[in-house]
Amino acid sequence: MPSPQPGVLAPVNAHAYFLTLTVPGHAARAELIEAIQDVQPAAQALAARAKTSRLVCTLGIGSGLWNRLSPANRPAGLRPFRAVEVEGRVAPATGGDLFVQIVSGRHDLNFELATRLAQRLRTLAALTEEIHGFRYLDSRDFTGFIDGTENPRGKARAAAALIGVEDQPFAGGSYIAVQRYVHNLDAWRRLSDREQEQIIGRTKRSSVELPKARKPATAHISRVVIERDGEELQILRQSYPWGSTCEAGLYFVAYTKSLHVFDSMLARMMGVVGDGLHDRLLEFTRPVTGATFFAPSLQMLNALWRTSRSHSREGSGAES
Ligand code: HEM
Repeated sequence: MPSPQPGVLAPVNAHAYFLTLTVPGHAARAELIEAIQDVQPAAQALAARAKTSRLVCTLGIGSGLWNRLSPANRPAGLRPFRAVEVEGRVAPATGGDLFVQIVSGRHDLNFELATRLAQRLRTLAALTEEIHGFRYLDSRDFTGFIDGTENPRGKARAAAALIGVEDQPFAGGSYIAVQRYVHNLDAWRRLSDREQEQIIGRTKRSSVELPKARKPATAHISRVVIERDGEELQILRQSYPWGSTCEAGLYFVAYTKSLHVFDSMLARMMGVVGDGLHDRLLEFTRPVTGATFFAPSLQMLNALWRTSRSHSREGSGAES
């Protein structure tokens, strides 16, 4: 099985840095591929200089850009983010051609890599969003609830996130769904702990699932736990709190072998599955961005590297 990019299955760490970029139509294809392929070597060089910080990075490519780079050879499930709008609840699609998630124990290292990548891509892409995420307390979201309790562990992480035999040429790759949420923390803090627990579906202090009788069907975990053929659908969440004292929320990132899984969860949260219910958490937070990407395996990135470097040596701009 080809190896995933190091950031895909990485455990949570103290700091994260997120870049979203848009590539204008006139960007030179060969140059762009070279810049894309310089991302992992740049991350690995920096990681090697500060091993204890466990710096990892993931690069994702959006559906539109993938079409321009390699229209004949596409990951089967890659498509733009599907916006949802219902009864005043909006999950917008804001798009992006390139997405970079950098995670390590040090904000300065992440910033160093982000700066180098932004400089490398400066003539080829416009930076549309740059966000610093961080672990908050004992891995809590700003709502005060632990985020990640039921994230897949061990081998289950790869099983949830990585493409396998179902799309063999893209095995070891992963789809990424990204949404930046802004919380209404003033409204949230007006609720009692008990009310908050009913909205999340877990206890606040220790993240214990509420007993069935006390867990409303509108609780967050009631909406996102979905069983198909006796098995629970899984995504691998790599989200981080972000923000300032004025505006803050969750930078939600999910790695998945199928975007359908994310779509199904979001549809139940938003309330578009026909049962008349939505996730009450959405009365206290709202997504302000939405985008999907594909993170190719390391081997696939390297293959593009060879193709692009040999093409530019031969002066050819042909599609691979
Ligand atoms: C502001 C946005 C969000 C917040 C604050 C949030 C918070 C939480 C919290 C506190 C938990 C319980 C602890 C845990 O198992 O991690 C949780 C679980 C979960 N969330 Fe979210 N979440 C958000 C958005 C989403 C979105 C957009 C999705 C998917 C579309 C999602 C999918 C899940 C899943 C799959 C679980 C695990 C459920 C289980 O197996 O018990 N979350 N979330």
